[in-house]
Amino acid sequence: MAYAIMCSGGDAPGMNPAIKKFVDYLYKLDIKPYFIYDGLEGLIDGTIKEAMHKDVAGIVNRGGTIIRSSRSKRFYEKRYRQQAYENLQKYDIEALIVLGGDGSFRAMDLFYSEFGIKFVGIPSTIDNDIYGTQYCLGVDTALNVIRENIDRIKDTASSFSRAFVVEVMGRECGYLAAISAMVSGAEVCVIPEIDFDREKMLKRLQKEFQEGRRYMLAVVAEGTHTTYEIKEWLEKSLHVETRISILGHIQRGGSPSVKDRLIAFEFCIKAIEHLRENKNSNSVIVYNDGKYSFKSIEQVVSKKYQIPTWVLESLNYLD
Ligand code: F6P
Repeated sequence: MAYAIMCSGGDAPGMNPAIKKFVDYLYKLDIKPYFIYDGLEGLIDGTIKEAMHKDVAGIVNRGGTIIRSSRSKRFYEKRYRQQAYENLQKYDIEALIVLGGDGSFRAMDLFYSEFGIKFVGIPSTIDNDIYGTQYCLGVDTALNVIRENIDRIKDTASSFSRAFVVEVMGRECGYLAAISAMVSGAEVCVIPEIDFDREKMLKRLQKEFQEGRRYMLAVVAEGTHTTYEIKEWLEKSLHVETRISILGHIQRGGSPSVKDRLIAFEFCIKAIEHLRENKNSNSVIVYNDGKYSFKSIEQVVSKKYQIPTWVLESLNYLD
């Protein structure tokens, strides 16, 4: 019996601990572990290799993914999925674990419906934008990277009496921005989910600057596409020198946090057990209120992820 693991879409810290657990745990169960390198592209091209203990030694603290990842357009063509299926047949691989986001799960679901290769998706994206799970692998590490960098920016902002607009990742989702603004004590937070009331905010900021505020911080989600607009607005309306800092891909890297390592292990063990217990599986493992469970792909892709109300409330958005 053989199972394979692959990463698809944006890499996320925590993928390597999951890959390590996959190999260690399958060896214990006497199931052959395989790596599919380069995500769906590698599945098509057959870059598949049996995994050894030595491959995963010393990787638990490393960000990114040792088996690499990709975004594949070819996989949406039937002839390439056929090729991918034939590659798996060569190694008798009967089940897959896919670390990725909902786009990758959708692609795997299509593959499953055509060829019956069972799989479990492990939500892995720093964006935390997958419906049905409160947590995706990599989020805690990314949040800590953002927190550390914003803390540094605050040091220089306060020393130089400046405003800073910090743009954070998240694709169309404002989760990273919302949590980062909250824990960094940012004055302004702009996310795609909520209309930003400039008038109301301006009144508050003007009052604070009159009372002696000398610097400030605005966290802007990349999905709003308003970073430069917000900078202009702050400079013009508050007459405060303003700089932009786009954190970019540093948010995706770095050694996985303790939380991401532990959740990676649990996600992986439970995904393997699910595959062993079920003849068929096109499920995603999810984490809610401290518990793990499984959801169908239809459930996970049926709605858009919503930032929890308490987060929006604590940003004073819902006054
Ligand atoms: O989905 C993860 C993510 O880092 C997003 O936050 C970001 O919008 C995107 O990937 C960047 O993609 P790329 O690495 O292809 O530039």
